[in-house]
Amino acid sequence: MCGIVGYIGEKKAKEFLIEGLKKLEYRGYDSSGIILFNQKVFLKKEKGKISDLEKTLIEEELDSCKLGIGHTRWATHGIPNKINSHPHVSNSGNLYIVHNGIIENYESIKEVLISKGYKFYSETDTEVLINLIEEVKKSENVKIGKAVKIALNQVVGAYAIAVFDKNNPDEIIVAKLGSPLAVGIDGNNFYVGSDPSPFIKHTKRCLYLNDYEMAILSRKKGLILRNFLTDDILKQNIETLKLEIDEVEKGGYEHFMLKEIFEQPKNIKDALRGRILNNPERIKISSVEEFIDKFEKTKRLVFISCGTSWHASLLAEYYFEELARIPVEVEYASEFRYRNPIINQEDIIIPVSQSGETADTLAAIKLAKEFNPFLYGVCNVVGSTISRETDSGIYIHAGPEIGVASTKAFTCQAVVMLMLAVDVGFRLRKVDLVKYNTIVNELLDLPNKVENLLKESNIILDIANKYKDARNFLYLGRGYNFPIALEGALKLKEISYIHAEGYPAAEMKHGPIALIDEDMPVVVIATRKGNYHKIVSNVMEIKARGGKVIAVVTKGDKEIKKIADDVIEIPEADELIIPIIANIPLQLLSYHIANLKNCEIDQPRNLAKSVTVE
Ligand code: F6R
Repeated sequence: MCGIVGYIGEKKAKEFLIEGLKKLEYRGYDSSGIILFNQKVFLKKEKGKISDLEKTLIEEELDSCKLGIGHTRWATHGIPNKINSHPHVSNSGNLYIVHNGIIENYESIKEVLISKGYKFYSETDTEVLINLIEEVKKSENVKIGKAVKIALNQVVGAYAIAVFDKNNPDEIIVAKLGSPLAVGIDGNNFYVGSDPSPFIKHTKRCLYLNDYEMAILSRKKGLILRNFLTDDILKQNIETLKLEIDEVEKGGYEHFMLKEIFEQPKNIKDALRGRILNNPERIKISSVEEFIDKFEKTKRLVFISCGTSWHASLLAEYYFEELARIPVEVEYASEFRYRNPIINQEDIIIPVSQSGETADTLAAIKLAKEFNPFLYGVCNVVGSTISRETDSGIYIHAGPEIGVASTKAFTCQAVVMLMLAVDVGFRLRKVDLVKYNTIVNELLDLPNKVENLLKESNIILDIANKYKDARNFLYLGRGYNFPIALEGALKLKEISYIHAEGYPAAEMKHGPIALIDEDMPVVVIATRKGNYHKIVSNVMEIKARGGKVIAVVTKGDKEIKKIADDVIEIPEADELIIPIIANIPLQLLSYHIANLKNCEIDQPRNLAKSVTVE
């Protein structure tokens, strides 16, 4: 949800800002803008992609600028156009800001500022914030740093900001509450990013700002970190990033999404690494070991999440109920936060989030905390807000996911959920050693299976060609494969804009069957284990009504092959592992359909990677 960058130092700012914004484009791509400074401010904004903005940067003078801030926008307040684009400038023309987040009380502040003579040109909350800073600076006669601090104490909302004052041209001020912000440090060069991907090429030394922190990045004084509530100077916990540049580049693939689909064997290994060992009690997850008593005492697990992470949570419900015999509820964070949910102190609340920054999930955590349950987070982004706001948890180690539609992160979520459920189940003596070893061995074998499946995936392109013009799709699955049907349908919707719905296969006859005709492709996950004959009947029902069936079947299947229009074979595996494998051809089907339709795969319309607004 919007990305911000900034640079102050000895190098050319333009290159960093443009390259950095491209790395953050996954966060929003409705419009973008930068300011560059050398004696005077150059302000450039453009609707659309960073490449559109880049075309406007023609003046030679821009190359001499060694300071700048930039923004890529996912529109919240006001339509995507040049006026609403960031950076925003204060009425005096002296102060500039880029902002990721939402200022909730901007309307009341705007009214006060209007009464003092301020004029507003955009519909944004950000323009209100920069004029509030200006007003504070003037009325309190303070320097820019102090003005930012005072203003932030008056606003309500979530933000990561970078502010520049052209009368104080040797510094940039950054601050955050709720939205993520990282500063890269290389001697006298300071890089700012919503995440470290923009500056990983330049430095691995990184300071993640915490909520209520503000940093002054100064040519003369270096980096000064303060708490903007208390004004205390803070110790700087500079980390050395482990991220490598090729993790955030396409590596020869046409799209990040394709690269991310194909790197899943490695991601699964990373998710398992260090957690499955070669001894009798082979799974070793320190957070489970440490808090097993909580799992032992709890009466239920409550998963809270959104979108794809909600689908992973639904799969977790099947896993935990089967293996650990603990009752599970799966909640949409956005609903949970506005209900009056019943939460008990002995509940374990499990927020699941790839970004670890999703506003609804964070709000649900905040609400849950009032009842003091044990909070166990499942996140991808290390150090993200959700990972910090929970009592304990586990990282899925999928690495940076740039494609906006999630693929590898979902797979790693599923792998980690299964590993957690079997570990907890075994420790609570609900899973016997035979089952335990079967799952552990199958998990270890999963990267190979996925690798082989990907090698033989050409057929999916042919199937995509056949069905790319369909206007609607149905996805059906039973048991463990039901969440996969939901996820398959979501993937298709997100990147190809084809309407698609996922259902438990048996629900079809309770309504959706009315939709079936010769124009309706139905993707059925029809693998051998788990209600196979029931699924065969469902396929028959579709065929009897003229529907087209694309079946995901177990290698060697004969029965469904005879009746389905197209089949995608996947390797045999335990029924708990099958959904993780079955999900992969569905990712590829969506990818190829979207690519054949010339859709913007990595940056689908209206979406953004981390949804840090409601
Ligand atoms: C879809 C997708 C989204 C996210 C959702 C929650 O491909 O990725 O549905 O899962 O926006 O985001 P996280 O997982 O970051 O909390």
